[in-house]
Amino acid sequence: MKTVLVTGANGFVGYYLVQHFLRSSYRVVASGRSKEHSFPDHPHFNYYDSHFIFLSTDFVFNGERGMYSEEEQRSPVNYYGQTKVFAEDAVMQYPFQWSIVRTVLVYGRSANGKLNFVEHVAAALRRNETLRIFHDQVRTLTYVEDLASGIVDIAERKAEGIFHLSGKDAMTVYEAACKVAQFIGQNDSQIQPICEGDLNAPAQRPKLTGFTITKAQKDLGYDPVSFETGLQKTFQSNAVS
Ligand SMILES: NC(=O)c1ccc[n+]([C@@H]2O[C@H](COP(=O)([O-])OP(=O)(O)OC[C@H]3O[C@@H](n4cnc5c(N)ncnc54)[C@H](OP(=O)(O)O)[C@@H]3O)[C@@H](O)[C@H]2O)c1
Repeated sequence: MKTVLVTGANGFVGYYLVQHFLRSSYRVVASGRSKEHSFPDHPHFNYYDSHFIFLSTDFVFNGERGMYSEEEQRSPVNYYGQTKVFAEDAVMQYPFQWSIVRTVLVYGRSANGKLNFVEHVAAALRRNETLRIFHDQVRTLTYVEDLASGIVDIAERKAEGIFHLSGKDAMTVYEAACKVAQFIGQNDSQIQPICEGDLNAPAQRPKLTGFTITKAQKDLGYDPVSFETGLQKTFQSNAVS
């Protein structure tokens, strides 16, 4: 049986669309902004009122202070951060349930072959390449499964508003790369510490980010792993389930 997602199912066209898909033997997952709907019961029909959860970034901050909490002033230094500020503002206008989840440099075992920071460092070191990594940028790197389970908790509790979900250990990106080297038994002398100014990069990056995660710990019971444990989980053979 094919499944179709119909958003705006409560609308004029949406209502008839749902009926026609059901008649054509689809399973219909429908959503609308209201909790109420006027569809009759049908074994292949499920309706959900929507809770919009948006993934945002530490790059909404300018990186002058670091360890940001949810309430702090956003002031992006590059276009990516600016697009996220625009998007956050749009989400905040949503008149129903919304949550904004900001996160920081996410790592873990990738399922699609697209390497993230930690995997990229490990792969380059194993090829004996030299890496140039920022030592003037601080982050609280986030283990991907902590982020995923935190988002599920937000959905389950219908927790609204802004949440900072990141790791708890603040370190420079260079330090993080050296920890990866140690973890996989490679020599960290292949990693050269550089400053942002050493690269002629067109886009500036916030220097000190990282999050205070007190709100998520208190409201969601969020309890992220240490960076060391995150590395173990990343490199253990059955990390992606
Ligand atoms: N990874 C991090 O370190 C990090 C840190 C802070 C915030 N975030 C935020 O977390 C979110 C997910 O990040 P990620 O690392 O998982 O990114 P990703 O690996 O690049 O995945 C992005 C996903 O979005 C889809 N996508 C991109 N443009 C789209 C479009 N115009 N219409 C529909 N789908 C589109 C892509 O689809 P295809 O697969 O079809 O291309 C892909 O599945 C992003 O919003 C990112 O800004 C990530």
